[in-house]
Amino acid sequence: MSGYSDAAAYAERWLGIIKSETIDEATAKVVSKETVNNFVNHFNKGWVEYRKSVTEGGEYAGTEWSGSGAVFKDVFGNEYLDFLGGYGAMDLGWSHPEVVEAVRAQAGKSGIPTQELMDPLRGVLANLLAQITPGDIDHAFFVSSGTETIEGALKIAKLYTGKSTFISTVKAFHGKTQGSLSVMGKKDYRAPLAPFGSQNYFVPFGDADALEKQLEILEAVGIEVAGFIAEPIQGEAGARVPPDEYWPKVREICTKHGILLIADEVQTGLGRTGKLWGVEHWNVVPDIMCVAKSLGGGVLPIGAFMGNGRIWKAFEDPNPFIHTTTTGGNPMACAAAIATINVTLREKLWERAAELGDYFMGELKKLAAEYPKIYKGITGKGLLIGQHFQDAEVGYKVAAGLYHRKVLVAGTLISANTVRFEPPLVVKKEQIDEVLNRLKDTLKEV
Ligand SMILES: Cc1ncc(COP(=O)(O)O)c(C=O)c1O
Repeated sequence: MSGYSDAAAYAERWLGIIKSETIDEATAKVVSKETVNNFVNHFNKGWVEYRKSVTEGGEYAGTEWSGSGAVFKDVFGNEYLDFLGGYGAMDLGWSHPEVVEAVRAQAGKSGIPTQELMDPLRGVLANLLAQITPGDIDHAFFVSSGTETIEGALKIAKLYTGKSTFISTVKAFHGKTQGSLSVMGKKDYRAPLAPFGSQNYFVPFGDADALEKQLEILEAVGIEVAGFIAEPIQGEAGARVPPDEYWPKVREICTKHGILLIADEVQTGLGRTGKLWGVEHWNVVPDIMCVAKSLGGGVLPIGAFMGNGRIWKAFEDPNPFIHTTTTGGNPMACAAAIATINVTLREKLWERAAELGDYFMGELKKLAAEYPKIYKGITGKGLLIGQHFQDAEVGYKVAAGLYHRKVLVAGTLISANTVRFEPPLVVKKEQIDEVLNRLKDTLKEV
């Protein structure tokens, strides 16, 4: 054993790259090649096989490096317009200076809580969220990812109701840990890992009568339900907006049947859809609400699940430590979230999302009408927009054509029936126009 000297030297070399302000072309080439090799040999070669940055990247795979607002650069200095926005994690764009500053300042003081003394920022963030969430929601617990917020929401709902069955929606995406998978509405991720402990049930999204019927059936056969979980607007399914009467009816049904309503705002929360929270489009107050992705301002991961004091009693008594995590809600992540909320409220980013989203979607609908062989249609609200293609092949061609024109959207070889636009909410109108121009060129080519 070499005393791990090779590993230490490798770490040292990379710290040099991390700390340098600039990157020259020779280093950029090494970084690009080495990144692909590392993914293939040590991470997951399947990812590499399906990524446009590799399959469409030529000799050197597109390797991300730095960014600001809705623009980022790869290691070679090529500029891209980011209209994927980390699937909703980049509402404030790349490396927002106020978030970075808050995190830097906090990192220099304390990064991880003692778990014994009181850490002030967790309390501040919980208080802030209580001030900006709908209705009587006034408690929060912090974690580090979206899927963990769902785990927490299901857990507190089970404790509060004493029941363990949930109803979810077809095509729902709630994350990929075990509890979240149990309410995942997509077979590809769910089926290979089932069963998940409790038997959950699924109803079509947007159909409140189906929920009521399912509840009546379960009541008739004596299966007790803890709660219903859904995204206000289904994100991963392609920005699917339910009919206007859906959410108010769902609220009514949950109250009538005595089950908890859990809103998964992991993707829709903090302004993306044109309101601060997705449920506000329909003036609905959920019992439990989840937020993550953009809460960390695109700088650090943080998520929260939230509810009112009555529900929170289930976490406080008899065992206040029934749900804990060592690193979730650490002071750096809380500092990022506090800065993010500050920027979001000050700049009223949800209003920007509503205005720019209306404009962008209007233009996209015109293009979809012009190219009926390519598009089935455009859906969404605010800056959560879904392009629905005639098939995955044509969808991939559009996504790849945009990539060649330095516009980033999702869409892989195996999953491009619907491709979302989710630019940062700080995107400029001129950048939307530029993307529309590049999309027009792409559509002509396709
Ligand atoms: C609505 C929704 N819930 C939960 C999740 C899971 O979040 P994470 O990937 O941070 O675990 C996602 C991720 O896309 C999501 O869109």
